[in-house]
Amino acid sequence: MTTKIMFVCLGNICRSPTAEGVFRGLTGKAGLDVIIDSSGTSGWHNGDLPDSRAMAEAAVRGYDLSGQRSSQLKSQDFHDFDLILCMDNSNIANAEKLRPKGAKAVVKLFLDYAPNQPLREVPDPYYEHNFEAVFDLIEDASRGLIKQLS
Ligand code: 4NP
Repeated sequence: MTTKIMFVCLGNICRSPTAEGVFRGLTGKAGLDVIIDSSGTSGWHNGDLPDSRAMAEAAVRGYDLSGQRSSQLKSQDFHDFDLILCMDNSNIANAEKLRPKGAKAVVKLFLDYAPNQPLREVPDPYYEHNFEAVFDLIEDASRGLIKQLS
């Protein structure tokens, strides 16, 4: 059965497009039956390409984020996706405000799938510029999620 996964951050230009691109790259190799998307809780960057720093680090690691455009998480997504994986706790709080009554989606922190990492949240790299560390966390969590789905 297809598992539908939505990755969520604040702007949908740094962390969640990275998660979408990394997870798509790694699941392609694993041959998993998944539908993958990403969005932000804010809508501030709707229609924008991923951040150029994220795209550059993606290219170094063999992922392509250039087909993605920023979009905002919406209530319907709680019906359409099985898993809504958030980068930090504020994303979870903002996402849950959109949940319609009876919607099935399970909302979790993405780093729940990287239990050996000392962090539980993926830090926002927009001002901190720590894109390499963000990619390391996201690759680790992606591998953990793939293991669980396999
Ligand atoms: P993201 O990073 O949530 O990982 O996409 C951010 C992108 C933009 C802003 C904040 C965080 N912003 O303030 O515009």
